[in-house]
Amino acid sequence: MNQESELFLTSDEAPSAPTWRRRRHAPLLEIERATALAAAMQQLIDDLPEQVALVSEDFTIVAVNSAWTQAMKSFGYARMAPGDNYRKSCEKVAASGWEPSVKALAALDEIAAGKRIFWQLSFHGRDRWSDREYQLCYHRVVVGSQAFITVRRFDLTEIAELRRLRDDFSKSVIETQTIERRRMARELHDSTAQLLAAVGLLLGNLKRQSPRGDSVTLVEEIQELIGEAQTEIRSISYLAHPPALEKLGLVGALKSLVEGFGNRSGLEVSFGIEGEIAPVSVGTEGAIYRIGQEGLSNVYRHARAAHAHVTLCFRRSMVHLIIADDGVGISKETLAAEGRAGIGLVSMRMRLLELGGRLSVRRLSRGTAIIASVDLERSRAQLVGEAEALNGLKI
Ligand SMILES: Nc1ncnc2c1ncn2[C@@H]1O[C@H](COP(=O)(O)OP(=O)(O)O)[C@@H](O)[C@H]1O
Ligand SMILES: [Mg+2]
Repeated sequence: MNQESELFLTSDEAPSAPTWRRRRHAPLLEIERATALAAAMQQLIDDLPEQVALVSEDFTIVAVNSAWTQAMKSFGYARMAPGDNYRKSCEKVAASGWEPSVKALAALDEIAAGKRIFWQLSFHGRDRWSDREYQLCYHRVVVGSQAFITVRRFDLTEIAELRRLRDDFSKSVIETQTIERRRMARELHDSTAQLLAAVGLLLGNLKRQSPRGDSVTLVEEIQELIGEAQTEIRSISYLAHPPALEKLGLVGALKSLVEGFGNRSGLEVSFGIEGEIAPVSVGTEGAIYRIGQEGLSNVYRHARAAHAHVTLCFRRSMVHLIIADDGVGISKETLAAEGRAGIGLVSMRMRLLELGGRLSVRRLSRGTAIIASVDLERSRAQLVGEAEALNGLKI
């Protein structure tokens, strides 16, 4: 059977055996499939948000997608359609001396000469597009014996904007949380705790007025419960925002923490500052202070050290809290488990993660060092946000 008759066989003429039918119809189906595949590919390329063009080795534009056609029209770039010479059009733009296009032209020649197979450049647009960010990529591809250059242009502005929004959003969530916690802590301390104190006083009066009977035991029990509630409220509000931070600021609070710890533990503990003190956000202050508390309590509980040194270090755009001791050293197993053994190190990591910071735990030649690091630039951005939020909340 010749090729033609095989191509135009209909299913009616086909014998019943399924394998036989499949073989006789295969070429027809393959062509259909290939056509469908080509159409799907074109659709796929047309649907891409980036602008794509395929350029032959002599710089003739062979194919483009819809995004390319639209973009070239809106940029006012003439002669960028299939059949046009891509290099000549680029040359015209480069003649104006615009740096990205000058660089692109040089790269295009290198790619065409086979000196490199890939090149890309990110740049800001000009004129009407000066607030937009683009990326241009050239890729040399060889199909059979023929070489082509794929040209891809992306508009990165939305992606960059989305990234910025995501960062701003996570920052604002942390800021709002911190401010809200602080507000609740004050509320609990100033309002609820005062109400409980008033109830306590009234109960005291009641006890004095009727000094006998069953009611006295009842009143005493209620007084005890109120005492417990007051202790709980104090510790909750303390956890939400340590009063030392509010009163003394980060440096003062850390200094007093270290002094108090030294007195209670009998260890020789010192505190120092390196670099120039810079403002940090409330969230970062809270995290650093808590890490200081947990780090020192770990030294006391696990290190068997004689000395400890706490340093608050401002270097370039970072703030670091370093707690170093000369004890037995953290075990290799705990280090390998990244401190998953207990709650302390894990919660330090979590606090820092929320702020985009990191915790590093190191074995020293003698002892352990815990280093908490937060990017100060981010903290500053938070400070501005906090000031605005404080204004908005009027607290
Ligand atoms: N300064 C230190 N010196 C020696 N070992 C330490 C030190 N800090 C932490 N560790 C070790 O790391 C473990 C995890 O610490 P942590 O997460 O704070 O949990 P916890 O203190 O509740 O045990 C501790 O159990 C201890 O073995
Ligand atoms: Mg601990």
